[in-house]
Amino acid sequence: MTGELSPIDRAKFVAAKRAAEMVQDGMRVGLGTGSTAAWLVRCLGEMVRDEGLRIKGVPTSTRTAELAREVGIEVVSLDQAGWLDITIDGADEFDGELNLIKGGGGALLQEKIVATASDQMVVIADAGKEVEKLGAFPLPVEVIPFGWQTTRSLIEETLVALDVLGRSAALRMSGGAPYVTDEGNHILDLHLQRIGNARQLALVLNQVPGVVENGLFIDICDRVVIGFGDGRVEVRDINEGTIEHDQVDVAEKDNLFTDLAD
Ligand code: A5P
Repeated sequence: MTGELSPIDRAKFVAAKRAAEMVQDGMRVGLGTGSTAAWLVRCLGEMVRDEGLRIKGVPTSTRTAELAREVGIEVVSLDQAGWLDITIDGADEFDGELNLIKGGGGALLQEKIVATASDQMVVIADAGKEVEKLGAFPLPVEVIPFGWQTTRSLIEETLVALDVLGRSAALRMSGGAPYVTDEGNHILDLHLQRIGNARQLALVLNQVPGVVENGLFIDICDRVVIGFGDGRVEVRDINEGTIEHDQVDVAEKDNLFTDLAD
């Protein structure tokens, strides 16, 4: 069964499985969105079923909520949970300071709120997500539908004064219509190529009327678990300044691979 996994999926899986070990009984856990986070939800579901792990999960999207319920995790809202012990989520890019681009899956708003309301945020990613400078991945910005074209123009004008290489903003589409987020908003993907000052950009973007939130996660992530196709994982802790290496056993008995749909 594991032979059906591509190296990239295996890398995502081992990162998720290693991160799942950080979750302890009784924790309130933020559950990320995306293909890597879906592996995490599956792993936690298995721990709930097989090991009696008791957790409360706060999902960051409707699709993560559906998957979490499907695998047997108790799902609560963020307001019910109040504050979270840990959030584990994927990322589109991360740099050496563990600053992130997120929102490729369109869930950046809930992801940022949930991660910020957590004692610690752990990112799980395959090694290809690491970059020296953020920005090759288009930066998602969530905007309200009202006047979105004006908002796009304002963003493009704002970018002229900033240290970025590209300046075009594209409305994200889905099935021939503008993509709609869980909050009823649209997403503009900013093709910046290289972001010179991510901290400044994150602040400036949120000053533009019509912008709800941007996909730059600055000083939010505490640890990254990087997975490799051969089962190796690397855990970096930005606060402790530590790097650990580990090997995750991708056992044939793992039955998590059959019907994952994300
Ligand atoms: C969802 O909105 C995103 O922030 C995801 O966390 C990010 O796109 C990573 O997704 P994958 O794990 O599918 O690469």
